[in-house]
Amino acid sequence: MLVEIDRLFSADELDALRQQLLAQPWVDGKATAGIQSAQAKRNRQLDEDDPVARQLGGLVLQRLSDNPLFMSAALPKRIYPPLFNRYGAGEGFGFHVDNAIRGIKGVRERVRTDLSATLFLADPDTYDGGELVIRDTFGERAVKLPAGHLVLYPGSSLHRVEPVTRGERLAAFFWIESLVREDSQRSLLLDMDVAIQRLTAQGADAGSLLELTGVYHNLLRRWGDT
Ligand code: NI
Repeated sequence: MLVEIDRLFSADELDALRQQLLAQPWVDGKATAGIQSAQAKRNRQLDEDDPVARQLGGLVLQRLSDNPLFMSAALPKRIYPPLFNRYGAGEGFGFHVDNAIRGIKGVRERVRTDLSATLFLADPDTYDGGELVIRDTFGERAVKLPAGHLVLYPGSSLHRVEPVTRGERLAAFFWIESLVREDSQRSLLLDMDVAIQRLTAQGADAGSLLELTGVYHNLLRRWGDT
């Protein structure tokens, strides 16, 4: 399942975000890569301990917790604090699969990476290349979204970032452990939730809505783990 979350930040907010991020010291992206993916990775990242990265990562998570589509699609249990990366001309990241379990630096908590998320922070017309190419059961999809939009995709997928040929791609990325581990089950729950919300907005029969809502929660009870 691939889900797009639109407009998490306004144009003014994005300007301020970019300014703050670009003023920080950037390090080689291989620092957080596994052995296999380090060979394919050419980009730069902000250090996980960078105070600005931590603060802005917290802001991203705040926005997401207020976003009904994100909450319904991801059903988050734990979220890895957002990291930030940039790809200049000639940089890219070949096909790889993300580590299944990631320890959060400085705490004992670990996150199973059921979902991966990329928040695009640069306007698409300011750089060429840099598409996020995701290969999964639905085939191969190239994703390049407007600044402030986020894509959620299965953590189990092979994916790559096309080399940037002009300008610079700036993004936040992170992982989510979901209450529902299986992508197909999460996808059914999202479809059902969206349909229930639509029927509610249309003023559908209250008794039927109550039954459907009950089915949703009973499926979540069956498939979810806390
Ligand atoms: Ni990756």
